[in-house]
Amino acid sequence: MPDTLPTNSPIVAAYRAATPGSAARAAEAAALFPSGITHDSRYIEPYGLYIARAQGPRKWDVDGRCYVDYFGGHGALLLGHCHPEVMAAVHAQLDRGTHYGASHELEIAWAALVMRLIPSAERVRFTSSGTEATLMAVRLARAFTGKPKIVRFNHHFHGWHDHMTSGHASHFDGTPTTGVLDAVAGNVLLCDQNDEAGLARLLDRHRDIAAAIIEPTGANGGRLPIDPAFLHALRRLTAEHGVLLIFDEVVNGFRVSPGGAQAEYGIRPDLTTLAKILAGGLPGGAVAGRKDILDLLDFAATRDSGKEKINHPGTFNANPLSAAAGIATLKIVAETDACARANAYGAALRRRLNEAFEEEGLKWAAYGTFSSIEIFTNPEGIDITPTRFDPLALPAKHLKGARNADTVHKLRLAMMLHGVDFNGHPGGVISCTHGEAELEDTVAALRRAARMLKAEGEA
Ligand SMILES: Cc1ncc(COP(=O)(O)O)c(C=O)c1O
Repeated sequence: MPDTLPTNSPIVAAYRAATPGSAARAAEAAALFPSGITHDSRYIEPYGLYIARAQGPRKWDVDGRCYVDYFGGHGALLLGHCHPEVMAAVHAQLDRGTHYGASHELEIAWAALVMRLIPSAERVRFTSSGTEATLMAVRLARAFTGKPKIVRFNHHFHGWHDHMTSGHASHFDGTPTTGVLDAVAGNVLLCDQNDEAGLARLLDRHRDIAAAIIEPTGANGGRLPIDPAFLHALRRLTAEHGVLLIFDEVVNGFRVSPGGAQAEYGIRPDLTTLAKILAGGLPGGAVAGRKDILDLLDFAATRDSGKEKINHPGTFNANPLSAAAGIATLKIVAETDACARANAYGAALRRRLNEAFEEEGLKWAAYGTFSSIEIFTNPEGIDITPTRFDPLALPAKHLKGARNADTVHKLRLAMMLHGVDFNGHPGGVISCTHGEAELEDTVAALRRAARMLKAEGEA
């Protein structure tokens, strides 16, 4: 995001003219929330869209404009907005009660589906979010091993709790971000993904590491893609050093394949964190994994072993509404080709966009894995051929470069003007309801947006 909004940009002016309803809501919200927003990724100047309804792969703003949606409920909506079976399950559950303060049958069916789909899940504990899931995973790892340190990978995101802040968007030197204790950040060791030798050195040097946690398709859901060979090396090296491996499958669990990245790559982590698709578009998360580790949450097992139990309350753990949506969603994931269809759309969209970039004479590229789409806007101006672009060959600074923040910002606004809502990478996630019409609309929008940017000297 640029520091200052370009005031003379025709793209910004056209965006303002097209979205007066969002402007009015944003003005009200400015007096209510910091920056007028409720999630950092909704920050965009001059203001973000206010959405009134959504269906399948599309959503409509308060001005009645339609968008192909690539936010997908921050990745939760593999089945698209308002999938009829998920909606019916939630509506039915609403009439039976939203919270019993007691165990219920839905949580059993929900966990059974998780254990059926996720290969390494021997036990499951539900949480209310992905952030809570990764918090519990690192606590379990530290308690199980009796060791304090956690290995994390630069740029990887695992939620916003204190153990996960340095090295995500800033503080790559490991110093604490504001408000976080030195002792917490000091027990996090940062490492570059795809650097097997660096990881091996780190594991050799520190004998007090409890676990390594990773987004297994790469940082930010694959914006910085991972070499699958590195994942295998990570599993081997962690096992050799007695370090637990946590796969953070909050985004890619039930997305890249019904069994997530671990099924796709044939790697068995010790712990897995889940959220998003898990709860079918409602709030929810989970830690799943080895029984002997999750036994630290078990009253009888800890009594028998003499270990201290980890306490874990949580008002909305396994909430019946989330369970109902989760069961309906995971059944469809298990029994249909939903993941494969979203992945096929991803491959087609990336190919068609790269062909369009070549035709438009743009040194940009579409990349991504499975059902993700990322647009490389080439901040360093390197010579590339879009249809042969290999993001693994580039350093992170090229893929995440902030040097062309103005271009990325205007591209997003121009895409919205042409009916496509990309995230700030820019890019997004795909649902199994995205089809040929959305593909055509997205490619056409990108061509038109690129021409608007060219006219402003940005592409
Ligand atoms: C890989 C990953 N882990 C954890 C989280 C945190 O999940 P939540 O937003 O549900 O707290 C996210 C959220 O986007 C994520 O992408």
